[in-house]
Amino acid sequence: MSKTLAYVIITVVIIAIVGGIIAWMYIRPQVAKKPVFVVIGKSVHPYWSVVEAGVKKAGEELGVEAIFWVPSKEDVPAQLSTMDSYVAQKVAGIAIAPSDPGAATPYINKALQQGIPVITIDTDAPQSNRLVYLGTGNWRAGYLAGLVAWQFAKEKGYIRPGATLKIAMLTGSLTAMNSLERMDGFKKAIEECSQKDPDIRGNINLIWLGPYNDQEDPVQALSLALSVLQSHPDLHIAFGVYAYDGPAWAKALNQAGISPGKVVLIEFDVTSDNVPPLIEGYALATVGQRQYFMGYYGVKLLYNMTKMGIDNAIKQLIPNYPSNRIYDTGVDIVSTRSIKFVAPTGDEVVVMSLDEYKTLAQSLGIDPALLGLS
Ligand code: BGC
Repeated sequence: MSKTLAYVIITVVIIAIVGGIIAWMYIRPQVAKKPVFVVIGKSVHPYWSVVEAGVKKAGEELGVEAIFWVPSKEDVPAQLSTMDSYVAQKVAGIAIAPSDPGAATPYINKALQQGIPVITIDTDAPQSNRLVYLGTGNWRAGYLAGLVAWQFAKEKGYIRPGATLKIAMLTGSLTAMNSLERMDGFKKAIEECSQKDPDIRGNINLIWLGPYNDQEDPVQALSLALSVLQSHPDLHIAFGVYAYDGPAWAKALNQAGISPGKVVLIEFDVTSDNVPPLIEGYALATVGQRQYFMGYYGVKLLYNMTKMGIDNAIKQLIPNYPSNRIYDTGVDIVSTRSIKFVAPTGDEVVVMSLDEYKTLAQSLGIDPALLGLS
């Protein structure tokens, strides 16, 4: 065979292959792309892994792509640029937990203007046009934490007429609404108890330390907690505003050689990170959020919005819509033992044991192992 003939044959074969590939690309049946829903959280923590599990479950049930994304710690620019890139990709819906509601507002409004439904979860941005807030009623949750702190401090003998009560708050954000509301509610509860408790009637000196901001960074949380305990070894009440904070307080108490239970530590959340401090006796109670449903209902609500229209979808989920655009996922107070008491404010407070909470989680369809309850 001559060289020329060989070149001709090779060229013909190459053209046939390339042509075949191009034809296949055009002729093959087009696989319909699944709609994409995106949920943007605030930081890496087992708390958010539970939200993610809810997101994935809803995605599976609906047969859609449900993406979950978080920055490693509080990171407002990263949250917002991620949101913007999903807006540019024209995803079907977005749920975001804005670390800074003011900064997030123009991003939320821009997505809505482009026809992408946006809701907030975990923490709200009420000045934006977000369609719904789906999450904890944080002021009330913080208030309950304050009532529980008062009750335990009283049991310890720290609440006496004329006494001084030192209270420190460690949080992961000074902009996110959930943090600000929790701290405000907590403070209000303790102030009201100090006025209304018949044994005290205002005759107590409340000393507030902080809030100390660790920006959802566990390393920073631990070093802040340690430095507070160094300067105030006589601390009475420690409040862990975010999921990171209770465990950071517990570690710091341990490292400072303060025996478990001496400081009344109240945590937020029931996760694999928050349960050990309760069992070890460093934390006396925690406020369990139902974050699984923020992820699960978040995706379902956005999906329904694309299927039945925004108003119908919201109406189905939220009582009194349109005057109310908030779906409160609820909280439960959890400790190692179950307690019921009436606070000096008149509120009846129910504290569940870890076992009771485990049963509740099961009945709600949440795998207790996901919450660190084996
Ligand atoms: C808060 C979240 C926060 C998480 C981890 C939770 O208590 O609701 O906003 O990101 O703790 O710090």
